[in-house]
Amino acid sequence: MPLQHPRNPLSRARKAIGDGVFSAETSRVPTHELPVDEMRGDVAYQIVHDELMLDGNARLNLATFVTTYMDPHADKLMAETFDKNMIDKDEYPQTAAIEMRCVNMLSRLFNSPEPDKATGCSTTGSSEAAMLGGLALKRRWQQRRKAEGKPADKPNLVTGINVQVCWDKFANYWDVEMRLVPMEGDRYHLSPEEAVKLCDENTIGVVVVMGSTFDGSYEDVKKTSELLDDLQKRTGLDIPIHVDGASGGFVAPFLDPHLEWDFRVPRVQSINASGHKYGLVYPGVGWAIWRDAAALPEDLIFWVNYLGDEMPTFALNFSRPGSQVVAQYYNFLRLGFQGYRRVQQYAREVAVYTAEAIEKLGPFELLTRGDELPVFAFKIKDEVRNYTVFDVSAALRERGWQVPAYTFPKNREDLAALRVVVRRGFTFDVADMLLDDLRKQLKKLEKLSAPLTEEGQACSFHH
Ligand SMILES: Cc1ncc(COP(=O)(O)O)c(C=O)c1O
Repeated sequence: MPLQHPRNPLSRARKAIGDGVFSAETSRVPTHELPVDEMRGDVAYQIVHDELMLDGNARLNLATFVTTYMDPHADKLMAETFDKNMIDKDEYPQTAAIEMRCVNMLSRLFNSPEPDKATGCSTTGSSEAAMLGGLALKRRWQQRRKAEGKPADKPNLVTGINVQVCWDKFANYWDVEMRLVPMEGDRYHLSPEEAVKLCDENTIGVVVVMGSTFDGSYEDVKKTSELLDDLQKRTGLDIPIHVDGASGGFVAPFLDPHLEWDFRVPRVQSINASGHKYGLVYPGVGWAIWRDAAALPEDLIFWVNYLGDEMPTFALNFSRPGSQVVAQYYNFLRLGFQGYRRVQQYAREVAVYTAEAIEKLGPFELLTRGDELPVFAFKIKDEVRNYTVFDVSAALRERGWQVPAYTFPKNREDLAALRVVVRRGFTFDVADMLLDDLRKQLKKLEKLSAPLTEEGQACSFHH
């Protein structure tokens, strides 16, 4: 079912260009109906190009985790490989080989016990990778239940309420009950103790997020695992962990090498990571990596022909461009471990610097400080009553900055915050420009007698 715009003027397109000659000066641009005739490429380009000027400036988008800057060599390589279909492994064997090399590199980076037999694949992003990780958990649980002669029709998945919407989708699309640990007081993410309390014989796994979307904080994988070990000793229940490393998968290995969040923790069976977030590739690539072959049930794998050989695939999609995977490999070669470390370290330093400067402005209180993911969230102090975070967000938007304001979920619905995601390309200079604009806009906001935007008017937020 196509999702249609409510106002769809199936309209003037025919009249506008029915005579076969389109002139931007005398005709209206067709929008909702296929034009009858052709138009010149340069004219069509200019029309589309000009319309897109109304989009926000990607580099000033502090809402997104997704890469908005790559270097010109990457741009060139991507343009050279847009036409390669990732699924045509037979026709594009080198692209397929490059995908496997990336899986190998990531398995090593995530401390897989058997990196030479790496099990994983590229995806369109972390959402698809999370679905694949979740599906593998569900299938393994079903197989175990059936082998034990027990019912396997009421699977559940335990997560914090802060999980990204991809997990709600997973649960909805694959009939899995979501068991959500609510926030409590100053705890804005999963509590390992509360997570374990929600587990039972129907729990297919616990999702622990390395880098909460709400505030950039890391959840505690090791502690969750230890408490699940405890649960196993007491009850016999053996519940695996999937780590949602959408952002942290490309941050923690470089900046927090001693933090045990990955396959060093035996209970971690799978990890998803977004190549297009801190993996530093433009949108369209994620990674699903399993601990070993045993963690991915054979019967989920499809086999496609590859150079006359059979090649395993596990994906929700079929066709997609090879360019993102090629760009990921380019980044791996170009930056290496030290290069990624340098880029992420710089981002974290800028995040901590910006967070501290915002704290010093006076009206704000930090919820996180940018010292885990280079991401921080902040609220307005309770005593400030004449403007809201939504007003601050709108005031920054006037200057082109996109800083989302949003309310928190269950048990902390009273809390509204702003969030800044610091990514490659967000330098100390850019941070100073943001801070200058924030100072200027605050002067105007402080003169208000009452808030301009109430919480109810604010839209929800999913990334
Ligand atoms: C923790 C987490 N998981 C999953 C996702 C979904 O990622 P993607 O956009 O790569 O599908 C996000 C996106 O922000 C995220 O922050």
